Amino acid sequence: MKIVLPGGSGQVGHILARHFHARGHAVTVFSRNPRSAPWRVVPWDGLMPGGWIADLEQSDVCINLAGRSVNCRYTAANRRSIFESRIRSTRLLNEVVASLRRAPRLWVNASTATIYRHALDRAMNETDGELGGNEPGAPDTWNFSIDVAKGWEEAFFSTATPLTRKVAIRSAMTFSPDRGGVFDAFLGLVRHGLGGRQGRGTQFVSWIHEADFCRAVELLIAREEFDGVVNFASPNPLPNGDFMRALREAWGIHIGLPTAGWMMEAGAWLMRTESELVLKSRRVVPGRLLAAGFQFLFPEWPAAARDLVARWRVG
Ligand SMILES: NC(=O)c1ccc[n+]([C@@H]2O[C@H](COP(=O)([O-])OP(=O)(O)OC[C@H]3O[C@@H](n4cnc5c(N)ncnc54)[C@H](OP(=O)(O)O)[C@@H]3O)[C@@H](O)[C@H]2O)c1
Repeated sequence: MKIVLPGGSGQVGHILARHFHARGHAVTVFSRNPRSAPWRVVPWDGLMPGGWIADLEQSDVCINLAGRSVNCRYTAANRRSIFESRIRSTRLLNEVVASLRRAPRLWVNASTATIYRHALDRAMNETDGELGGNEPGAPDTWNFSIDVAKGWEEAFFSTATPLTRKVAIRSAMTFSPDRGGVFDAFLGLVRHGLGGRQGRGTQFVSWIHEADFCRAVELLIAREEFDGVVNFASPNPLPNGDFMRALREAWGIHIGLPTAGWMMEAGAWLMRTESELVLKSRRVVPGRLLAAGFQFLFPEWPAAARDLVARWRVG
């Protein structure tokens, strides 16, 4: 298969490119700053048509991950960039895909599990999950992330692409042992003795192991009945306090200083990110994957954490 990955030079793109390349598929990443990689990398700017269209036209599957990182302070300039980078690149791909005589048969676009409301009470699946936005007391940063996700999905689904099936993946945090990734950040807290609960610790953490993420993408490719939105998360989200405890146990440390909500705000400032990433309760479950019979290799966090820690240590 020929697979193109616009924005595939980041954390999730690397996981997918590595997976599909290792299985003998022809992987091409579209990047604004092409660097050498074991797979093909071609330039694009996410704004204008260019030579990359030839690769898109010859591809079987397009997986678009492009967008400015959300791991930053939500200043006005960063908000604009987070929003526009996603909407513009998705609109550009829509214009191009809709105009091709030979188009990829599947286009998977990144979305996010953050689109669902802050949920302590029940799990959110694709059918009866409630989208968030303007919940009483929700910080403005939470609303911003939800607005981005909604705008992004709308930009994706707004154009008809008769030759191309479309799936938006509402993905939870995707964990691999790669340095600089989101798992590395959580493990860093544990390694430095700061791996206690964050905030109240009752908020749910949704996550997915990289192996299941890649296998779930393979399922989307194989099964024509998938279109629309699909949640990518393990079936067992768990409260933050339990999540951090299992990570400490996997690392082999029994103490971890808890981080109060205000400390997360302060720490988030230092880490140049937003506390929403850990304080919002994301209780998202993979309704459609489970209904299709998908078997998770890592359905439970403690086993996933042990696997990730062991591979991080040899990394
Ligand atoms: N990581 C997760 O756990 C997770 C969870 C839920 C949703 N997501 C979503 O999934 C997507 C991929 O995640 P990721 O962690 O791989 O993100 P990432 O590491 O930040 O990579 C995204 C890529 O987008 C490109 N990009 C950055 N700014 C851009 C801009 N202004 N215009 C066009 N392209 C730009 C960059 O590639 P170049 O610099 O090479 O062009 C970058 O490597 C993101 O949109 C993210 O919001 C991720």
